[in-house]
Amino acid sequence: MSLSASQALAHLKTYSKKDGLSVRQLIDSSNFGGLTYNDFLILPGFINFPSSAVSLDVNLTKKITLKSPFVSSPMDTVTEENMAIHMALLGGIGIIHHNCSPDEQAEMVRKVKKYENGFINDPVVISPDVTVGEVKAFKSQLGFTSFPVTDNGKVGGKLVGIVTSRDVQFHDDNSSKVSEVMTTTLTTGKEGISLTEGNELLRSSKKGKLPIVDNDGKLVSLISLTDLQKNQEYPNASKSFHSKQLLCGASIGTMPADRERLQKLVDAGLDVVVVDSSNGSSIFQVDILKWIKETFPELQVIAGNVVTREQAALLIDAGADGLRIGMGSGSICITQEVMACGRPQGTAVFNVAEFANQFGVPCIADGGIGNIGHITKALALGASCVMMGGLLAGTSETPGDYYYRDGKRLKTYRGMGSVDAKEQTTSNANASTSRYFSESDKVFVAQGVSGSVVDKGSISKFVPYLFNGLQHSLQDIGAQSIDELKAKVISEDIRFEFRTASAQLEGGITGLHSYEKRLHN
Ligand code: IMP
Repeated sequence: MSLSASQALAHLKTYSKKDGLSVRQLIDSSNFGGLTYNDFLILPGFINFPSSAVSLDVNLTKKITLKSPFVSSPMDTVTEENMAIHMALLGGIGIIHHNCSPDEQAEMVRKVKKYENGFINDPVVISPDVTVGEVKAFKSQLGFTSFPVTDNGKVGGKLVGIVTSRDVQFHDDNSSKVSEVMTTTLTTGKEGISLTEGNELLRSSKKGKLPIVDNDGKLVSLISLTDLQKNQEYPNASKSFHSKQLLCGASIGTMPADRERLQKLVDAGLDVVVVDSSNGSSIFQVDILKWIKETFPELQVIAGNVVTREQAALLIDAGADGLRIGMGSGSICITQEVMACGRPQGTAVFNVAEFANQFGVPCIADGGIGNIGHITKALALGASCVMMGGLLAGTSETPGDYYYRDGKRLKTYRGMGSVDAKEQTTSNANASTSRYFSESDKVFVAQGVSGSVVDKGSISKFVPYLFNGLQHSLQDIGAQSIDELKAKVISEDIRFEFRTASAQLEGGITGLHSYEKRLHN
């Protein structure tokens, strides 16, 4: 006798087991070894909310929360100030690499902390002695049409005028000084002015540029009407609670000189430091963690990398406010091949995060994030954030120039343990590559490779694509926030399934003669 359709939900309760596997069953029954993100899937859940209502708020560390779980990796082909500024504007955070001198790294941190959306902090400034001919030449070189003029020709000098195309266009004597032609009746904004107030002043004065000055009339920055019109709003921007400045992270190593480096970074306004080691469970890391917590009690510290509970316990005990998980899963990484050390990333994330979360220590899943699905899986396994290198490489915010090969526009992306990265580490004994090479090494044993990636455009489009995609993914799973996703995994309401090799084939694209994989418009 068949049951009637109206009995379906009631009948479900007679099944002794829920469909699919709990996360524990998934991890424990993977007899064939550790799991990677591609080895499993999450079963769909019940949708009773729009994807736009899915909250992606997360904890990066014990004390820092973000509106999205995206972190850019401290690698010299991924995160310098431009990436860090845009990651923070888009709700994540960038960790500035340390394959450079401490002063250079501190200057990058300072630029992120000083950045205000819409304000140009390092405008091209000229001195009153510059000639009209030189201004005309600047214009054709730089494409700008106005320049603030300060007594010393620099930002921070006393503002004495502004020179625009109208001032020089019909002035035939190219040897005249700018001081003879510049506009000296100026509309200025006072330091601390909001963007909206600045905008209003520009409109009412019908000017194209608004110099911002301090109480002594010294130039601080500039607001430009054309930039204002182009400006996006960034409602999710990651900002310090008190100063409202963008949040900024940076990495250091574990050598004695890294303590001086950190002092400079803290002076520049650093919010969170990442102690960068490929194997974080070392006496060097424990010592520096304790020193950091004693010396800078307000600074948040992310320790790592770890892949086991034992490693995690050591660093939590030494004071870590967050952990970075991953060894050998990075897209440019050959650590597992060379060192025989590491762990498949799915298993590593679950084991470490399950342990660390009991102590309120959030975890970052670092390496091997190749698509939105991997992000969802890392979070479902207990991570709070994901750290990305390869996925962000090739975007316009990464350091380095584009070049053409085989008709493709490319940028370099390389491991910090690659010989290439090491060769760039000239005078910086305590640079990023110390993560992989010891000072005493006579022969470098590379743990990473160097390669190229195709131009991905700006992260201003790519990160919103990740954000919206993640919201849709959580909606499909039936979780309205990352917290709910994690809670439902623990309560075993969210279910998993292994993904055999043929299931992976089935889930890919099949049967097409050719196709183009465009990820977003
Ligand atoms: P991806 O996002 O898969 O490209 O991995 C980025 C991560 O790989 C970084 O955040 C580091 O943890 C790790 N990594 C960076 N450089 C190297 C290397 O040279 N060897 C091994 N791992 C690396």
